[in-house]
Amino acid sequence: MISVQAFNQLNRVLEQKTGISLAKNKRDIVGSRLSSRLRATQCESYNEYYHFIISEKGSNELSTFIDKMTTHETYFFREASQFEFLLSYLKDKPPKRFPIRAWSAASSTGEEAYSIAMILEDLFYNHSWHVYGTDISETTIAMAQEALFAISTVSKVPKKYKKSYCLKGYGVHDGSFSVTKQIKSNCTFSVDNLLAPSTLDYSFDIIFLRNVLIYFDETKQLKILNNVIKRLNHAGLLFLGHSESLRYKRDDLKMLQPCIYKKISP
Ligand SMILES: C[S@@+](CC[C@H](N)C(=O)[O-])C[C@H]1O[C@@H](n2cnc3c(N)ncnc32)[C@H](O)[C@@H]1O
Repeated sequence: MISVQAFNQLNRVLEQKTGISLAKNKRDIVGSRLSSRLRATQCESYNEYYHFIISEKGSNELSTFIDKMTTHETYFFREASQFEFLLSYLKDKPPKRFPIRAWSAASSTGEEAYSIAMILEDLFYNHSWHVYGTDISETTIAMAQEALFAISTVSKVPKKYKKSYCLKGYGVHDGSFSVTKQIKSNCTFSVDNLLAPSTLDYSFDIIFLRNVLIYFDETKQLKILNNVIKRLNHAGLLFLGHSESLRYKRDDLKMLQPCIYKKISP
């Protein structure tokens, strides 16, 4: 069982690296999520594990620790009604300027970014567009760059896009699928922290910031929202997760639908 002291120490590391702080009642969950890591790193206690991950020797394990402590659940066309909204909005009001740039902020393993990419390619195949995905987790970003997904998850991709943009794996990739070269080459992924984003030097027409704010306290949520909204172009669209909200009405955003906003000031 993990001691209160070890839980607090590990929680502090998590907060320093990601901004996420776990509630005291998550102590047992942390213990069970990390028990296999204790065995893998041959640490005899959670306290020893804590000292290991903050040491120079434990820098690789630090990234595994962050992965174990955070939730990466995602899938293609998650919260499908938001993608339907994006599609019909872009059809009705096609952008006047190209390239169109979209950002999947907290992209996890890339399904969200590739879902946006399929819509953009379908509508604007003869224009330029690009989707950027960022996440704090090195493992998920490496998986997003690889773009190999379990074939069972392709069922979430609408038929039309599946036919045009998904490729079934053969041989060593049996049981997987990927996306076409055109989709993959227009998606770029990088490791970045939403509390202090530094890798993206662009402003965006579309930003998905979904299912990540819930992990932060109110102050950090506001900081993340400000970091993200300042990178949204005038008239650009912001999508939040269905269980997330802006908390306060903002003068720079107009709600188009619950969890979907348009930037109204530069
Ligand atoms: C539940 S996933 C959301 C994936 C996708 N946006 C979706 O809605 O399907 C949350 C992701 O947020 C990432 N994350 C947590 N803290 C972060 C931070 N400070 N900066 C960037 N990403 C972070 C996690 O690594 C995880 O992959």
